Amino acid sequence: MDAVFVPNKQMEYVVSLKIAVLPGDGIGPEIIREALKVMDVLNDHFGLNAEWQEAGIGGAGYEASGDPYPEATQKLAHCSAAVLLGAVGGPQWEALDKPLRPEAGLLRIREDLGLFANYRPTKVHRQMLEASTLKPEVIDGVDIMVVRELVSGIYFGQPRGIEVRDGERYGFNTMGYRESEIRRIARKAFEAARLRSNRVCSVEKANVLDVSELWRSVVIELHQSEFSDVELSHMYVDNAAMQLIRNPKQFDVIVTGNLFGDILSDEASMLTGSIGMLPSASIGEKFAMYEPIHGSAPDIAGENRANPLATILSVAMMLRYSLDRADLAEKVEQAVEMTLDDGIRTGDLASAGEASVSCSGMGDAVCERLVRLA
Ligand code: IPM
Ligand code: MG
Repeated sequence: MDAVFVPNKQMEYVVSLKIAVLPGDGIGPEIIREALKVMDVLNDHFGLNAEWQEAGIGGAGYEASGDPYPEATQKLAHCSAAVLLGAVGGPQWEALDKPLRPEAGLLRIREDLGLFANYRPTKVHRQMLEASTLKPEVIDGVDIMVVRELVSGIYFGQPRGIEVRDGERYGFNTMGYRESEIRRIARKAFEAARLRSNRVCSVEKANVLDVSELWRSVVIELHQSEFSDVELSHMYVDNAAMQLIRNPKQFDVIVTGNLFGDILSDEASMLTGSIGMLPSASIGEKFAMYEPIHGSAPDIAGENRANPLATILSVAMMLRYSLDRADLAEKVEQAVEMTLDDGIRTGDLASAGEASVSCSGMGDAVCERLVRLA
């Protein structure tokens, strides 16, 4: 990751915290606005000294410069300590050629920055036990980290396409993993587990897929050679999908490929009551990007109704992993807890009949509490 401590001429350490902010589409700009309010509070009351610059991505990038991952955005990302992203996508861009669609911009920035490890924590907030569709006793205490491989697998595999074969259209993709790609993501999962409850469950479909057979054997080899202190289990993805709602507390770290991780992390998010609560960190050798796991929610975009907490919690992950400020990450997380304790809910979190606040109302509520923690 980029060095964040830059010695200046007087040989004092000056902290350079330049962040690339990519609001994107749909509710992206609204939730990012609230996250930046939190950053303002950290600058003004906690001496953070972060600076940021905004640039386009997804549909917004396409509208401004005809490319969902514009060159200016790429340049900015490459010289920043971290990237904070809102969300991409919307119905108005669905008819475009695939390389011009918003999602292509997101996949390209992940690939370009080499963000192979995607950390998606699912932690059930006590105050939210009633918000989940699952029974409180099933979800109370759930604390799972999904470690999703993000720059390979079926999302990127070649060949791919739609063509005419034997007089009918044929669509195809390729799910492939090099052993080095499996090893590096498995390593991240084992390392994460050592800092948590020391358990890794590797999820694949080794009873059917060759790529999964290789996945499993590489995970086992790495475990035996370097991580035998970590408890390792293996699960087929269909069973994992079932176990996640049957008994989610059995999981600590789940490591899995790109597609299975996409699906299982959405499923895991519902344990918390709302996908609007889940942050993520995508980390490579040199760069890191932080984004909520939810999408651009075009149906509520521009209505000031979105839940900004996943983005605010992504700021906390950025403070911890890229800006070397775990102390401030804790403050932000604490301010979010206090807000939930006080019964403040956006529409997605409120139960029937319960009052709810707007997106900016939620951001203000978190900021007020954060100021109190200064
Ligand atoms: C996610 C999203 C993306 C993905 C989409 C928007 C391309 O669903 O970050 O989980 O599939 O990776
Ligand atoms: Mg997804």
